[in-house]
Amino acid sequence: MDLKKAIHNLKKEKNAVILAHYYQYPEIQNIADYVGDSLGLSQKAAETDADIIVFAGVHFMAETAKILNPEKMVVLPDLNAGCSLADSCPPEAFEKFIEAHPGHTVITYVNCSAEVKALTDIVCTSSNALKIVESIPKDQPIIFAPDRNLGKYINKKTGRDMLLWDGSCVVHEAFSLEKLLQVYKKNPNALIIAHPESEEHILKTATYIGSTAGMINFVKQNPKEKFIVATEAGILHQMKKEVPEAELIPAPTQEDNTCACSECAYMKVNTLQKLYDCLLNESPQIEVSKEIRERALIPIQRMLDLS
Ligand code: 13P
Ligand code: SF4
Repeated sequence: MDLKKAIHNLKKEKNAVILAHYYQYPEIQNIADYVGDSLGLSQKAAETDADIIVFAGVHFMAETAKILNPEKMVVLPDLNAGCSLADSCPPEAFEKFIEAHPGHTVITYVNCSAEVKALTDIVCTSSNALKIVESIPKDQPIIFAPDRNLGKYINKKTGRDMLLWDGSCVVHEAFSLEKLLQVYKKNPNALIIAHPESEEHILKTATYIGSTAGMINFVKQNPKEKFIVATEAGILHQMKKEVPEAELIPAPTQEDNTCACSECAYMKVNTLQKLYDCLLNESPQIEVSKEIRERALIPIQRMLDLS
């Protein structure tokens, strides 16, 4: 069977839209109606008139789409597409943390569960975190969760002292500074670009720090340069597609593996076959209880209004 053709036909027949993150396999990105970062994907999810949203990404992203579209069907190719960062912030423990620090505005990075969003005042993504934090008066204390690296980076940029939840992403913490510097030594003209989920010592080496969409834009603006790219390796597909002449080197990880680049095992559980199956069978579907959905929608909508 020609899977691509079959997906295309099913999509038409069922009035479905395929939204994919930049970390998905190239063949999934190529078949998607829209490929983007977390903010772009939630904006697309908010405005779609499709009946079914096929979310080629991870669970928290599909959940955000469902919260924005309770009347639509949202399917995820594989329910095992989780996120280590979202898992690092269990809602019960986070609720206790908030109770232990009264009077704080709670800002959560979108990489968290719907239950955690329901405990939040305003959501942010890596592309608008700075703007969202700066929208809060300077003297107002803030709890920022779950990513401590993004939180530290925003603290440094804004001069604030936000209280940080101690969570992180396994993929972005896998980069090796030592190996990165070795690669840089061999490529002294290269520009290091990094996602803010990376650790501080990696970010210190970077010329540009931003979301996946921001990193792609930066490469587009500097097409003649060579880049060492510190984020999940799936992004290289879209970068190559948009800027074929740019030279791209994935930042090395501590693992001495043959790939030597960082891959998100959660993002990569989705395959083209599973994408076809989920659209055909309309399963697995994402469900969020009414109570959690109504509470989680408020901080997501605040973010969208500010973006
Ligand atoms: P963005 O694509 O929003 O930069 O997020 C990166 C990420 O880790 C998604 O899980
Ligand atoms: Fe989560 Fe990290 Fe994978 Fe993004 S790259 S989905 S933050 S584990």
